[in-house]
Amino acid sequence: MTIELPPLPETPVLETERMILRPMRLTDAPAVQRWFPDWELVKHLHAGLPWPYPADGAETNMRECLERMDRGEMACWAMTLKGDDTLIGRIDIKPNAEERDMRGFWLARPRWGQGLMTEAAEAVTGYAFEVLGWPFLYVNNAADNQRSHRVKEKQGAELIDLKPHAFMCGELMRETWILRRETWLARRGRP
Ligand SMILES: CC(C)(COP(=O)(O)OP(=O)(O)OC[C@H]1O[C@@H](n2cnc3c(N)ncnc32)[C@H](O)[C@@H]1OP(=O)(O)O)[C@@H](O)C(=O)NCCC(=O)NCCS
Repeated sequence: MTIELPPLPETPVLETERMILRPMRLTDAPAVQRWFPDWELVKHLHAGLPWPYPADGAETNMRECLERMDRGEMACWAMTLKGDDTLIGRIDIKPNAEERDMRGFWLARPRWGQGLMTEAAEAVTGYAFEVLGWPFLYVNNAADNQRSHRVKEKQGAELIDLKPHAFMCGELMRETWILRRETWLARRGRP
């Protein structure tokens, strides 16, 4: 299933129970540089990231990210805990239905396993379906990445494909999922 989606508007601030998701800023680069170069975190991301991660890796990536946001190719949020504006993770969406790659996320390792990414993913999904009116989200992960797999399951996504793919740690099977607007809204008890 493919569809032409229009460019994204300016990334809004989203609030969840425990977090403020706000548009990424260049001043987030030091926090990204602190948490992102962690092999356990990057090993299941798409191959091609510079590794070892250079000292200016975060800043370079964030400049590219901000340019893509300006062009409407991406909405990218810094995840922050309420009461502390420091970035602890990142979540983004892209209107890339053709490539079946419409969302990315990572979280600083000390914060794993507390339900924070599911909470952020639910807010961002609500924005994609209820504000932008997207009919679906294609999302994917390395089959070995059980944490990311669980986030999809918990959101009600359907597993639709399994193919080899190059990840940072080498070639692994990649799971592709579709999260449909009607399924998600029905789960949330919304019309
Ligand atoms: C994937 C990631 C974002 C998950 O964030 P998180 O906040 O820990 O996710 P949540 O707590 O919302 O959910 C994780 C689920 O995985 C489960 N889990 C935790 N450790 C696990 C393990 N070793 N094996 C299997 N499942 C595990 C948790 O129990 C939880 O499920 P539950 O709510 O049913 O108990 C985080 O681990 C991360 O940043 N990983 C590295 C980057 C990455 O892989 N990004 C995604 C690329 S597709």
